[in-house]
Amino acid sequence: MTRLIALLLALCCCASAGATESYGLPKIDIGKGGECVKDPKWMRKNHMHLLFEQRDKTVHKGIRDEKLSLKNCIECHASTKDNSVLGRADSFCEGCHRYEAVKIDCFECHSSKRSSAMVQRDH
Ligand code: HEC
Ligand code: HEC
Ligand code: HEC
Repeated sequence: MTRLIALLLALCCCASAGATESYGLPKIDIGKGGECVKDPKWMRKNHMHLLFEQRDKTVHKGIRDEKLSLKNCIECHASTKDNSVLGRADSFCEGCHRYEAVKIDCFECHSSKRSSAMVQRDH
């Protein structure tokens, strides 16, 4: 019994020591790399609040912050394979949301592609 517990503990430790994920998330393509606009741990839990706040500031008050714009997130987080944050099981925004069963409509209006590598697609 104690051996079983020790084994389970060891497994848990190994799992949480994994590179970017800590709760069983399949590996997600982080994109270009660099440094996130806030602490990644904080971002994991709070990115939606940051985005909504930024949207409200821009749309209602005309206050822009290029660094916190959705476009800037995409510039960094779009995969280096297809320049997108959508479309695959490991795509940054979609991959994590699929896994967490979250639905967002942001990309009906906002581009999901890195602008420096515009590939003509549906529009
Ligand atoms: C300059 C590049 C860069 C920009 C700009 C950027 N990020 Fe990040 N972000 C990163 C990197 C690199 C990581 C991963 C850090 C790690 O796992 O060690 C990260 C981590 C994250 C995470 C946590 C991922 C996880 O696996 O837990 C979220 C969520 C996130 N970013 C969302 C955003 C959003 C939303 C924006 C725009 C407001 C944004 N990021 C802008 C580089 C960036
Ligand atoms: C119906 C279209 C539409 C949808 C859907 C939409 N947006 Fe926007 N969003 C806009 C428009 C238009 C602006 C203003 C653009 C400008 O002034 O640059 C904007 C501005 C923003 C901004 C501030 C400017 C910027 O470039 O970052 C953020 C952040 C933002 N939206 C986030 C979101 C998020 C997050 C979602 C999904 C939950 C979303 N939007 C869904 C149309 C939309
Ligand atoms: C590490 C996993 C992860 C990544 C990566 C991630 N998200 Fe999320 N996102 C979540 C989770 C989990 C929720 C739901 C949180 C909740 O319900 O409290 C969420 C919720 C959201 C919401 C709010 C949805 C709503 O209607 O309330 C928006 C907007 C959003 N994410 C945008 C993004 C964008 C844009 C990206 C890519 C730049 C992204 N997320 C990347 C995990 C992630």
